Amino acid sequence: MKPVSLTQFLIEEQRRHHVINADLRLLIEVVARACKRIAIAVGRGALGDVLGEAGTGNVQGEAQKKLDVISNEILLEANAWGGHLAACASEEMADPYPVPDAYPRGNYLLLFDPLDGSGNIDVNISVGTIFSVLRCPEGVAHPAEKDFLQPGTAQVAAGYCVYGPSTLLILTTGHGVNVFTLDREPGSFLLTMRDVRIPEDTSEFAINMSNQRHWEAPMQRYIADLLAGKQGPRGRDFNMRWVASMVADVHRILTRGGIFIYPVDAKTREKGGKLRLMYEANPMAFIVEQAGGAATTGHTRILDVLPQKLHQRVPVFLGSKNEVELATRYHRVADQAGLD
Ligand code: AHG
Ligand code: MN
Ligand code: MN
Repeated sequence: MKPVSLTQFLIEEQRRHHVINADLRLLIEVVARACKRIAIAVGRGALGDVLGEAGTGNVQGEAQKKLDVISNEILLEANAWGGHLAACASEEMADPYPVPDAYPRGNYLLLFDPLDGSGNIDVNISVGTIFSVLRCPEGVAHPAEKDFLQPGTAQVAAGYCVYGPSTLLILTTGHGVNVFTLDREPGSFLLTMRDVRIPEDTSEFAINMSNQRHWEAPMQRYIADLLAGKQGPRGRDFNMRWVASMVADVHRILTRGGIFIYPVDAKTREKGGKLRLMYEANPMAFIVEQAGGAATTGHTRILDVLPQKLHQRVPVFLGSKNEVELATRYHRVADQAGLD
């Protein structure tokens, strides 16, 4: 069978679901094109002089890697002139970036984590790009931070790209999740998995165990029960994986199931958690739910969280539906009992 390209897939979706209009299609294709450029930069590594620190910091107070800055610029440049966007927001920029006046403004807002897992760049482990698309509120010509503060349920599309052994683009427009693999020679993304489903049950968890002593009590109880294995209350052994690139950990879960947790802990409580709501948690939660999984903060559905600020952080529990619900129950039981 002839492979289906991303363009062909989007046109077919447009006909079938009538949710993708020409502007949204252009937006997704432009993001995909930018991701191809990032994939090339990542792939060149030391030969392209892209490894190491940029010598600058971002709004989160994190040191930026050269590739954080390069990827951010590639995404901004690719998206500025197409006429499909009103503004962008990025993990690497304090404020929203409006489309320059020289270009026409479209109806969409694009949010991204240009390079996720940047701590892994210099050791040649998979990194990625995460993006989320919202509608620009009616009548807003110059979008500001408040125009981006929409719940995850308002997303019209979301996706991520993993720069791993293969470069993959994972996409949802609210009608399931599809996976495209980059065919490097012609430089086109081809559909390689249609309508991915996450198994509802799992025996694999992903968490940074080095933070254990900082966790809240329900988190301690949940992981202790998994670690107790066959002899414990779960009655079976659990395996653990932690890549420390959210894109790679989520992609494993999309492929074979699992639960990914970045809880709030004593170290991150003041900030609300580690991962960012608008361009990490929301797009991943949308994708995971569209693949039949679940995503919560440990207390509530991530997609229902009403954002208060652009760079807001949240605890994240996502993956196989039954396991995420169970882990969330540990917190709810504690909430109800008034325990910590
Ligand atoms: P980013 O590189 O965009 O700042 O994101 C890093 C995130 C995420 O990708 C990963 O799951 C997590 O940080 C890793 O955290 P630890 O270093 O605490 O393991
Ligand atoms: Mn990230
Ligand atoms: Mn990042």
